[in-house]
Amino acid sequence: MTICSAPGKVYLFGEHAVVYGEPAVPCAIDRRATVEVTPREDDHIRVTAEDLSLDGFTVEYTGETGGDAVDLDVSQSLVEAAMAYIDAAVQQARAAADAPNAGFDIRVDSEIPLGAGLGSSAAVTVAGIDAATRALGEPLDRRQIADRAYRAEFDVQDGQASRADTFCSAMGGAVRVEDDSCEPIDCPPLPLTVGFDGGAGDTGELVSGVRRLRSEYDFAEDTLRAIGDVVREGEQIMRETVEGSQLTAAGQRELGRLMNFNHGLLSAVGVSARSLDQMVWAAREAGAHGAKLTGAGGGGCVVALGESAQTRTALEYTPGCHRAFTTEVASDGVRPQESDSWPHHETRLTLTRVRCQS
Ligand code: PMV
Repeated sequence: MTICSAPGKVYLFGEHAVVYGEPAVPCAIDRRATVEVTPREDDHIRVTAEDLSLDGFTVEYTGETGGDAVDLDVSQSLVEAAMAYIDAAVQQARAAADAPNAGFDIRVDSEIPLGAGLGSSAAVTVAGIDAATRALGEPLDRRQIADRAYRAEFDVQDGQASRADTFCSAMGGAVRVEDDSCEPIDCPPLPLTVGFDGGAGDTGELVSGVRRLRSEYDFAEDTLRAIGDVVREGEQIMRETVEGSQLTAAGQRELGRLMNFNHGLLSAVGVSARSLDQMVWAAREAGAHGAKLTGAGGGGCVVALGESAQTRTALEYTPGCHRAFTTEVASDGVRPQESDSWPHHETRLTLTRVRCQS
């Protein structure tokens, strides 16, 4: 049995604009997905998943996608999507290890809400590929895992995937993504608070909406370019206002200001939501240096920068906020775990599917 875990992420800057060749800076957070893989004698894939959403839900079924009807308190499409990423990760691991008929028992545990802009699918895919290739005796390095995970996401998302989530989850820390170029960058410790509205945006639809707007209005194109300028400015702050390894107080304030700016520009291209705006304002009013939505938007999460206890409390009392947690930049990317290190928490989700290789 092999266990690997990989972190989720927030975008400090640059989502959506990254689709048009602007840079983006996501950073890994200390919420992880853990995948355990045990090779089987046959070519079957058996998946058990626990706590795929922060809220949790319980379902047990067997059969192919779209098979047995199940009663869920999150949408069936989110569960199917989660399973599609696991299937795609298995295909990538089989290809990498040149073992097209390898079968596995797979167990997944994730602390990252599904589809909420925190990179849950990337974390599961990255950890799955690492665990499966190790189990087959063909371990990959982090960049190879990131590349395989990107291809898996690309397949599942019909080509609508950037390398940002998967690269960040594989490498940890903060990364810079621009077109096909991805590099880790130095990142000082940042106190972050995440607010989650309990929902999820439809990434494909939101990306298409921005694309339509951009083709219709020159100023929408300018807005996306301006997001690129904000990202470049933010990178400079992270590089230049550091004393020792810490961002100065002035640097934190400036970075927060840029996050506010970034949120405004994302709102302008129509990807915010009332719940996200409410959380962003609550965090700012509680003293955060800045706050913005993270990921595709439309619902899901915001990230705030600044002293966290007050921000978290303010978020928890905000209508529209379902849950809030403090976090920090996780320097560890994907990594193997000890065999007795399975995360221990109340299990509210059991999702079992037995699937034969087609
Ligand atoms: O919601 P997420 O974490 O999958 O982020 C989507 C980010 C976009 O820039 C909107 C799309 C992409 O693939 O980069």
